[in-house]
Amino acid sequence: MKAAVRYHYCSPDGLTLREVPIPAIRSDEVLVKVKATTVNRSDCGVLTGKPYAIRLFAGLFKPRKPITGTDFSGIVVACGEQVDQFQVGDLVYGFLDIGLATHAEYVAVPVSKAILKKPEHITFEQAAASLEGAHYAYYFLDKIPLQAGDSVLINGGTGAIGNAALQFLKHKQVRVVVTCEAPFVDYLYKQGADYVIDYTREDFTQFDEQFDAVFDAVGKSSFGKCKRLLKPIGLYVSSELGPYWQNPFLALAAPLMPGKKVRFPLPFSINKSMEFINELIEKKAFTPLIDRNYLLEDISEAFNYVMSGQKKGNVIIRFE
Ligand SMILES: NC(=O)c1ccc[n+]([C@@H]2O[C@H](COP(=O)([O-])OP(=O)(O)OC[C@H]3O[C@@H](n4cnc5c(N)ncnc54)[C@H](OP(=O)(O)O)[C@@H]3O)[C@@H](O)[C@H]2O)c1
Repeated sequence: MKAAVRYHYCSPDGLTLREVPIPAIRSDEVLVKVKATTVNRSDCGVLTGKPYAIRLFAGLFKPRKPITGTDFSGIVVACGEQVDQFQVGDLVYGFLDIGLATHAEYVAVPVSKAILKKPEHITFEQAAASLEGAHYAYYFLDKIPLQAGDSVLINGGTGAIGNAALQFLKHKQVRVVVTCEAPFVDYLYKQGADYVIDYTREDFTQFDEQFDAVFDAVGKSSFGKCKRLLKPIGLYVSSELGPYWQNPFLALAAPLMPGKKVRFPLPFSINKSMEFINELIEKKAFTPLIDRNYLLEDISEAFNYVMSGQKKGNVIIRFE
């Protein structure tokens, strides 16, 4: 089969397309013929080994899996003898943030990991695009107790995480103010945003409203700058560590701080977030934002685009 391969942590240009054997499956695995996958921010971490903490999971000195790729959608073509929840012909999708070798024509997936049957009404491309950003949106928002009528400001409504967060919050009937560049303002209103700030014209930290939470989905702000946007017991959550890596420390100190606080959620079960994502897709309450698509042959180009920080939602790798 064709696969995107590298044997050391490297930049996108170190990735090459090779002919490699189709993986043999263990008794608890299914073999999936991949129909679509994405290049996402987790893939960039697994490709480059940066931030270095990722090497604790993806391989200390070199990548454990030479093939890149964390998500997939496709068709089950073989099942291990212990597998009873899937059968040949099932249409499935799944994700593993530390690397699953999905940038390939076939992938072996343990059924104990996050793999589900694909909802019928979405395409393979939409299924693959529904995973990484939405998983992180779910787990960042999970630590903010919110009810219908509460309000959240999201910084970065066209990122994979921010765009999924917008849809999840609107499903909960939360008021959402969100930032993006001018060409996407109407799109975010159509997705249900209550107010959209064009961040190239207006500094969102100066917006005249106080929120139950501020979620910086692109990690470009700080608690200090966003404090004035928070209600007296409002929460600040960011997808990044912060300019001085302060967010985890501020979150640890939160129980000692009165009033406004930082939360820094740690990753948890992907099975749990996938169940939620699947439920919202079934209810037609979540549709991923899809940007460009590339052939597997052009995967280095796709990685370079994603690493530019310009992608809108999700970048698809399709198979001919
Ligand atoms: N902590 C974790 O576990 C974890 C996991 C995954 C990802 N992350 C991090 O989370 C961040 C978001 O990931 P993602 O995949 O959602 O990102 P992404 O899709 O690559 O986000 C890029 C988008 O953000 C927009 N953007 C860039 N700068 C902006 C700004 N200053 N204000 C508003 N929008 C801005 C860009 O729009 P324009 O091009 O129009 O500016 C683009 O559409 C990344 O920094 C990533 O490293 C953290």
